[in-house]
Amino acid sequence: MPKVLVLSGDGIGVEVTEVSLDLLEIVGEKHGIEFEFEKAHFGGSSLDVHGVPVTEEVLAKAKSSDAVLMGAVGGPKWESHEHELKPESGLLALRKELDAFANLRPAVVYPALADASSLKREVVEGTDIMVVRELTGGIYFGKPRGIEDMPEGGQKAYNTLVYSTEEVERIARVAFDIARKRKKRLTSIDKSNVLEVMQFWRDIVSRIQEAEYPDIELDHLYVDNAAMQLIRRPKSFDVILAGNMFGDIISDEAAQLTGSLGMLPSASIGKGAIYEPVHGSAPDIAGQDLANPIASVLTSAMMLKYSLNEDDAAKELEQAVEAVLEKGYRTADIYQEGTKKVGCEEMGSLLKAEINA
Ligand code: IPM
Ligand code: MN
Repeated sequence: MPKVLVLSGDGIGVEVTEVSLDLLEIVGEKHGIEFEFEKAHFGGSSLDVHGVPVTEEVLAKAKSSDAVLMGAVGGPKWESHEHELKPESGLLALRKELDAFANLRPAVVYPALADASSLKREVVEGTDIMVVRELTGGIYFGKPRGIEDMPEGGQKAYNTLVYSTEEVERIARVAFDIARKRKKRLTSIDKSNVLEVMQFWRDIVSRIQEAEYPDIELDHLYVDNAAMQLIRRPKSFDVILAGNMFGDIISDEAAQLTGSLGMLPSASIGKGAIYEPVHGSAPDIAGQDLANPIASVLTSAMMLKYSLNEDDAAKELEQAVEAVLEKGYRTADIYQEGTKKVGCEEMGSLLKAEINA
């Protein structure tokens, strides 16, 4: 019986996760998977109830679960909190605690959605990228960090971008292994023209390729150039490898290629596994039945595939998404003239109907 800790979090995280749970129950029944779902407060909702963005109890539960299914965290209510008491710090603590260092963010342009992209159809059609983002190191976690007063007056604030050999090697191997199962091309992103740590990153990735993955075609791009190439020639990318912060930025950009951030799933894998849509809590549309649940549904499919070895059930969710899009149903974020606009709940019902069909 797979144990899944459900942390739907804040804002639209709650609505989209509800849709996912419904669909998981249904595919579970069809495929003989009996999920044991346990829900807990997380992020802002945990701050409201427990005064911290994640409790020790939830971290322990996450560790003893087969997978964590996350919604989204954050919102204006908690934005002015000091660093440790921001909802986002709960997510970072969870990633660290589970050593979920490899964040896989597939950006696939569905044919039915190619016109929903802000780029031309001919530029994006056929795009199929896997962004592999390092998730538990780099500037997000580097020490020293902080804000302090200076003796001469005024203050200074600092963070540290640091990577060890082992951290770069392990994420590079994940990316190379994935490339091996795809088109065998890897683009590693850095800023080695300016930062020592990024030259170090580039050298290690090159060394691993030469020693262990001679069959994979590797190239390196500076992050600024990568940001440009990604919208110029998205189809030419296969697997993209990036550190924590560059990966955060590049994956939002990759998401927009697909039409909307509301479409992108992700899996964060290490000792434990967290499944998290790439989008945020979108407080501006939360609670209005406007959210796109597809990123969450595809995230659930990743959970079925990567943590529970239920490939068939995963496929069923993915196919339901494709079918509903083919039929012209769209949430507001991907809506275009001539398609049928639906809310989050209705999108859920349509997906359900597809699975039951
Ligand atoms: C993401 C988010 C998070 C990140 C935030 C919410 C901490 O933007 O998962 O991409 O920066 O990693
Ligand atoms: Mn992000």
